[in-house]
Amino acid sequence: MSNKKVENKFKKVAVLTSGGDAPGMNAAIRAVVRGAVFYGIDVCGIVRGYDGLIKGDIIPMDGYSVSNIIQRGGTILKSARSDEFRTKEGRAAAFENIKKHNIDGIVAIGGNGTFTGAKIFFAEYGVPTVGVPGTIDNDLYGTDFTVGYDTAVNTALSGIDKIRDTADAHDRIFFVEVMGRDSGYIAIRSAIGGGAELAMIPETKTSTSYVIEKLKEVSSHSKSSHIIVVAEGDEEGNAQEIANRVKRAVPHLDIKVTNLGHIQRGGSPTAADRVLASRLGLGALEGLLEGRSNVMAGVINRSLVYTSFEDAIFKKKSYNKELVRMIEILSGRSYRFRVNDKDRVPYKEE
Ligand code: F6P
Repeated sequence: MSNKKVENKFKKVAVLTSGGDAPGMNAAIRAVVRGAVFYGIDVCGIVRGYDGLIKGDIIPMDGYSVSNIIQRGGTILKSARSDEFRTKEGRAAAFENIKKHNIDGIVAIGGNGTFTGAKIFFAEYGVPTVGVPGTIDNDLYGTDFTVGYDTAVNTALSGIDKIRDTADAHDRIFFVEVMGRDSGYIAIRSAIGGGAELAMIPETKTSTSYVIEKLKEVSSHSKSSHIIVVAEGDEEGNAQEIANRVKRAVPHLDIKVTNLGHIQRGGSPTAADRVLASRLGLGALEGLLEGRSNVMAGVINRSLVYTSFEDAIFKKKSYNKELVRMIEILSGRSYRFRVNDKDRVPYKEE
């Protein structure tokens, strides 16, 4: 797209953030607003996502309203998971406000739920919408990384580093739960970066009995600390549940559980997230102005791409099996991946 003011049907666009917040959302809002100013288009912000659209909580924005936010976590537009937007009545009320405020198109920053809402709204009312993938889970097809993921991994990592100190001092086994409702992306990267012994993720069938067997084996050799990262969505249960089962099987071990929780959602975005958010925010706006709709902007192999909401939501992004394979090897413990021994293989494909 050339850097000229565009002459097209767009006189005013709106930007919103919806679903779980993610570090870098502010950088994305800034890119949309500054982009709109650059192209000479009016821009407004919808407060609290689709709930704000239904209530008419819509504010004018300009270049100054996004000053000094690129480094801030959270979202200046606030976020919500709107139950009302799931109803026909809610969406009808939202469309009334689209007309009232003369909004020609929307940039929606969020995850699966956000794009599902946008897709239905487009089908019913034809309001052009382009998405920016903003979720710490990194679970959207059509982009290598989502905005917020890198920061969340680094936050998890700094927690794991601290846990490692105390785990080592006391020769303790720690089960550390990280976020990821249906995905193990945060778990995989933070396990490798944090030198964990194992990651238990929803994408693979992880066997608690394998963990028990290995812990029995290790404790009989020597005392040592272990860190096992558990993605919250693991099919074996949450970290506390898994740890309880392990404790019953190996009662002599000193086992602790830490849930890193919502700290992973906050904090100043990393450089990688700020750059990604800036690129995708502007990319989404420019896509909208070029006539795209019902698509999500993403970056794959360093190139800006657009993927239909349908694919972004429903296609499964493959996790990196090579990274998963590395975790145990690099932990350097007596954990061993025995290729031909089915019972001892920790990860089984679903
Ligand atoms: O989708 C992002 C996420 O942080 C998930 O990892 C987690 O399961 C969920 O949001 C938590 O949502 P809430 O903040 O509404 O409890």
